[in-house]
Amino acid sequence: MSILSLRNITKSFGDNAILKGVSLEAEEGEFIALVGPSGCGKSTLLRIVAGLDHADSGEIVIGGREVSPVVAADRNIAMVFQSYALYPHLTAGQNIAVPLAMRRLTAAQRFPFISNLLPAQRQIRADIQRQVREMATSLKIDHLLDRKPGQMSGGQRQRVALARAMVRHPSVFLMDEPLSNLDANLRVHARGEIVDLHRRAGVPTLYVTHDQSEALSMADRVAVMIGGTLLQLASPQEIYDDPAHIEVARFLGQPRINVMETRMDAAGTVRFGVLTLAAQHALRSETLVMIGVRPEFVRLSARVDGILRARVERTEFLGSEVIVHARLDALGEAIVAKATPAEAAKLSPGMPVSVDLDPDRVMLFAPRGERLPARTVAVASTLEKAHG
Ligand SMILES: Nc1ncnc2c1ncn2[C@@H]1O[C@H](COP(=O)(O)OP(=O)(O)OP(=O)(O)O)[C@@H](O)[C@H]1O
Ligand SMILES: [Mg+2]
Repeated sequence: MSILSLRNITKSFGDNAILKGVSLEAEEGEFIALVGPSGCGKSTLLRIVAGLDHADSGEIVIGGREVSPVVAADRNIAMVFQSYALYPHLTAGQNIAVPLAMRRLTAAQRFPFISNLLPAQRQIRADIQRQVREMATSLKIDHLLDRKPGQMSGGQRQRVALARAMVRHPSVFLMDEPLSNLDANLRVHARGEIVDLHRRAGVPTLYVTHDQSEALSMADRVAVMIGGTLLQLASPQEIYDDPAHIEVARFLGQPRINVMETRMDAAGTVRFGVLTLAAQHALRSETLVMIGVRPEFVRLSARVDGILRARVERTEFLGSEVIVHARLDALGEAIVAKATPAEAAKLSPGMPVSVDLDPDRVMLFAPRGERLPARTVAVASTLEKAHG
């Protein structure tokens, strides 16, 4: 059973439609990364789920209950923001205790002066202290409990914010770019911590990021939102290897996927370089379609007998691999390849090269960007073509 379902959520600000019917189901214990370009509505969606904002239409169901009428405080959702939003005047320990105190003590009882006089409340306070200490131990922040946010590093604050969110055992966990304030090393470390924590707590998590490596490395499934709709929700590998839309293919992958325009005839046949592709469903007439191939499936070699030819423009050495930028002779379009340092050593700027595309890794997209299921049916040999 899905723990969290979003059904057809829409939201506009004035005339600006931001969410155009977003639906998503999260299973028990699932970690879903929500990615998309800046301004596409990720934070808006999270705020709506948390109850901090209202959708114009649509349903949010948590554990079988429609929560639209339920105020934020009663949804049992924990949210961690990019800014951590810790109370600056409270110590880490007091910050972590806030959600527990809010739940178990009335406003008057939260004054320490009164509560210390009443045994029942003393008991509750002791309970809260115990829970805070347990949480702190599991996140290895015991030593920080007496410090205020101003006396902690970004990474430490982030852990305190996580502890505060986890301490009341929420039924859904929402995180909005919680790592974006950390430096690169700390981010990678914190990724691992969040994944561990998630695994232990088993709480379904919706995690917003615009860092694609974060999304691909952390999530069970990745949701790609572009232009107010979810274009695809699938495992990291499926999103990467089998994108449903050209925008998904472009959004994930570094450097970006190569996209080239070409013609598809009325029978659904596409010829590109030495490759012949057959689309599963032909469009009605001859159409311009797009060929997509990721840089790691492009090979540039220093021979001049290829059918698809290019000229090397520059190389970027990244240590274990080299990014080679070239320009296709015929189309004048840029093409990017990933090469090993040994392969790249044979290439230099200005050099004419032949371009080979892995026939099993070439994808076809319709003019509006939807993926067209297709397979490569023939690979002409260079010789044949030269004679033909
Ligand atoms: N309260 C508001 N009033 C008017 N427009 C808003 C409001 N909140 C957000 N927007 C607009 O809605 C769009 C989506 O904003 P949102 O913050 O959800 O984007 P995002 O995907 O989280 O972007 P980022 O990756 O930059 O954080 C933006 O164009 C933003 O300007
Ligand atoms: Mg945002």
